[in-house]
Amino acid sequence: MNILGVDIGGTGVKAALVDVVTGKLVSERERIETPKPATPEAVIGVVQQLIERFSYEGPLGIGFPGVILGGQTMTAANLDPGWVQFPAAAAIQQQTSLPTTLVNDADAAGIAEMRFGAGRRVNGVVMIFTLGTGIGSALFVNGQLVPNTELGHVYLQGQTIDAEKYTSERARIEEGLKWKEWAVRLDSYLHHLEFLFWPSLIILGGGASKDYKKFVPRLTLRTKVVPARLRNEAGIIGAAMAAKKDK
Ligand code: BGC
Repeated sequence: MNILGVDIGGTGVKAALVDVVTGKLVSERERIETPKPATPEAVIGVVQQLIERFSYEGPLGIGFPGVILGGQTMTAANLDPGWVQFPAAAAIQQQTSLPTTLVNDADAAGIAEMRFGAGRRVNGVVMIFTLGTGIGSALFVNGQLVPNTELGHVYLQGQTIDAEKYTSERARIEEGLKWKEWAVRLDSYLHHLEFLFWPSLIILGGGASKDYKKFVPRLTLRTKVVPARLRNEAGIIGAAMAAKKDK
């Protein structure tokens, strides 16, 4: 069964057709820059354009960079505040005429990694972090998702900003940090989360995951840390899987 998975990000909106039985992309990945300002109207317009590129009809799965409750977007740290408490699933469904399932983007990536990637058959507490424009988190206990964890927004000792502002892939690029410098930040962030949750495995995904060799070996955690096996495509795959579950 092929479902269109869409990953709305702070810099790009990406989509592909996903075979949700095998977890493989069955089309090219299409990408459109996230509009600025990233209002609901503008972003939904981009989603519509992507659907048209695929001439797609069927259930739609969308990963969104904020908390999702009952189809509403509750937060949007890296998009326009118009998304806060916005009935997004209903609005997208109305615009596209496709049955729409919304899920937090990091939860989507986690769902895909747990089923088809680095978290497959791993029990206990597994944490996934997506390192991109922000930092997303997904928490699994014996394969069961605890939805909407927002661990990119913790404060670290001595800091007065969200950890994601200091430790995301965007921070690395915008501040021109060397991998080594950025790895020190990531290491202290993950040490804090390790201390709070005591996971048995940490999976690192998002835009930075393709360069994992440059920073994962520099981390000093007691927890095993591995890159997302589905790399940055995990979000698209998991969004499509979430749509299947709903139908
Ligand atoms: C948002 C999360 C999201 C993460 C990655 C954070 O700023 O609050 O919901 O998962 O960015 O996009």
